[in-house]
Amino acid sequence: MTKLRIAIDGPAGAGKSSVSKLLAERLDLSYIDTGALYRCVAFEMIMNDVALDDERGIRRILADLQITFRMEKGKNRVFLNGRDVTAQIRTEQVGMLASTASALPFVREALFAMQRRYAEKGGVVMEGRDIGTVIMPEADLKIFLTAKPESRADRRMQDIKTAGLEEKPYEDLLEEIRRRDDQDTQRAACPLRPADDAVLLDNSSMSLEETAAYIIDLAEKKWGQGVCRRS
Ligand code: DC
Repeated sequence: MTKLRIAIDGPAGAGKSSVSKLLAERLDLSYIDTGALYRCVAFEMIMNDVALDDERGIRRILADLQITFRMEKGKNRVFLNGRDVTAQIRTEQVGMLASTASALPFVREALFAMQRRYAEKGGVVMEGRDIGTVIMPEADLKIFLTAKPESRADRRMQDIKTAGLEEKPYEDLLEEIRRRDDQDTQRAACPLRPADDAVLLDNSSMSLEETAAYIIDLAEKKWGQGVCRRS
């Protein structure tokens, strides 16, 4: 396995996870979804009735947090303290609370060490909000992946349909996306922003394949054709 480090940051619904998974597979790297860590904290808060202002309760959750990832048939399974929570952490309620809790500096600090371990190992595609700026500033390639809120709401609607989840009006999805963008970009602690050396990529009118191909092309220009072992 190569020791390349790729950072993919961007707002909710820009397609970071799908693209990162594809890149990891094609470039033979491991894939780390850092949003899942924040989602696990939020999930535990909900399950244990821990409020946002209960710092002691949240710290207890953070101290006991054991998260592992396992790639199974192209799906990134997330285990929280030994339990498969892959589906449970994907709800809008968990996403929104993850976004709110992620603004707490002590939460970010606790998850920092965990993320740094993955970064230091290398051979990784990490996706999140502050990977290129804070977690892995030494990354070999940084992409800031974005798309218009309308395109992201469209995609979210498609995903919900495909997954057979309860459908929501387009306007509600758009509103949720805008609210999360505001929270993630306006917070004081490590707000979502592109690193100075990140490549900005708006994929509003690009397919997943086109987005992945664009990034692989950048990687190949930097490291040569051999970087892509399986395409
Ligand atoms: O990528 P996601 O939607 O699964 O992330 C959920 C929330 O977690 C997101 O709204 C903000 C927070 N997050 C963060 O603050 N920093 C990261 N590196 C990843 C996610």
